[in-house]
Amino acid sequence: MAESIKILTEHFHQEGIEKLDVYKKHGGYAGLEKALKTMSPEQVVEEVKTSGVRGRGGAGFPMGMKWGFLAKPEGVPRYLVCNGDESEPGTFKDHYLMMKCPHLLIEGMIISSFALGANTSFIYVRGELMYVINILEKAIAEAKAAGYLGKNILGTGFDLELVVQPGGGAYICGEETALLESLEGKRGNPRNKPPFPAVKGLYQCPTVVNNVESIATTPWIMLNGGEAYSKIGIGRSTGTKLISASGHVKNPGVYEIELGLPVEEFIYSDQYLGGIREGHDLKAVVAGGSSVPILPKHLILKTAAGEPRLMSYESLSEGGFASGTMLGSGGFIAMDETTCIVRNTWNFARFYRHESCGQCSPCREGTGWMEKVLYRLEHGKGNERDIDLLVDVAKKIEGNTICPLGDAAAWPVASAIRHFREEFEWHVRHPELAIAPGAVFNKETEAVLN
Ligand SMILES: Cc1cc2nc3c(=O)[nH]c(=O)nc-3n(C[C@H](O)[C@H](O)[C@H](O)COP(=O)(O)O)c2cc1C
Repeated sequence: MAESIKILTEHFHQEGIEKLDVYKKHGGYAGLEKALKTMSPEQVVEEVKTSGVRGRGGAGFPMGMKWGFLAKPEGVPRYLVCNGDESEPGTFKDHYLMMKCPHLLIEGMIISSFALGANTSFIYVRGELMYVINILEKAIAEAKAAGYLGKNILGTGFDLELVVQPGGGAYICGEETALLESLEGKRGNPRNKPPFPAVKGLYQCPTVVNNVESIATTPWIMLNGGEAYSKIGIGRSTGTKLISASGHVKNPGVYEIELGLPVEEFIYSDQYLGGIREGHDLKAVVAGGSSVPILPKHLILKTAAGEPRLMSYESLSEGGFASGTMLGSGGFIAMDETTCIVRNTWNFARFYRHESCGQCSPCREGTGWMEKVLYRLEHGKGNERDIDLLVDVAKKIEGNTICPLGDAAAWPVASAIRHFREEFEWHVRHPELAIAPGAVFNKETEAVLN
């Protein structure tokens, strides 16, 4: 694929792009001017629907369709809440976007608030990222001084206050209804649905929650049209996607890729990750943040049917969970052959046990069980039955909780066993080596030991 089109990051390398004047010099706020001065809110919603852009927070729900569900009862305020909690291990693209180019998000927030009829909107940022919050606050003050925020924006009669809220310091606060609870000043516990936020969200008023990256696409869509956006990407995976790449690759970082890019090209091309670190080979990939199923090398590069796997919602999930995974939030973690899958799975399980809010018993108890059993296996105290026990516990969590954190905890465990069962068995057979430094299961080790 040729050099990918840049919708979000084109000007990120410009010196001072975090400042309003530099952002404007590179076309900033032109999408906003067009939307507010020449379009109705309904037309803005239509453009976003036409673009086919899907939510970039993980679930990939079409953004225009979500906007279309917003209830509009007379005399009741509506809210737009931007989800910048970004606490999923492996995902760091929203944080990068807000830090590099805060005005892109602010411009998107104003356009989206105008479309939804929201006069107070919130950007909820992961609480640990105080420096990002400071950057956003500074940019908001600049935008306000320039007449892009506050009363009667650009003389159009549209009013908007933008509030930045530091997050509650927990992964669960990224789940949209927990986020709303947290914004209301309560403990971030997910709500039962229905009612969905579009009907009863923040302060029981109609609310749209969208991810940072989703909202940041709207300035481009306004300027170039939904139709133009829909022609970028592949099939129902329109547009570009920010991918946070980490792990054993030569060039980790945040990349904006056109959806449809072959995974193989993304990993091995010098334009992107540059391949696996010298002298090592790819073993496994977690393609969409720690929650999505892990895939071994042969299944991340090609589908079970032998087709090249693409960076798109459809291609990554091709084969279901038997042989596929998900694009998720785009947290792409590559692991080479030195990675112990059991240890990695235990590490993820520790995270989910710690972050479970504890409301639902399958998640509260199950994440604890999975962590304990994985600890046993990793520390040479496991037995053959533990592997099936893990599969069983994961199955009992999945789909049985108020929010998807339960699924997010179950999938990494179930998929690791599905694709790397022999490695778990190896830990049972060789307890003395389970935590020995450098004792990583592979065919050569197995051959030597037998
Ligand atoms: C445990 C958990 C954590 C989540 N964390 C985030 C997050 O940090 N950022 C985000 O945008 N979405 C997160 N989500 C998804 C949100 O609930 C929601 O779907 C998303 O913000 C909607 O935005 P989008 O439609 O633009 O993707 C999380 C979901 C779960 C279950």
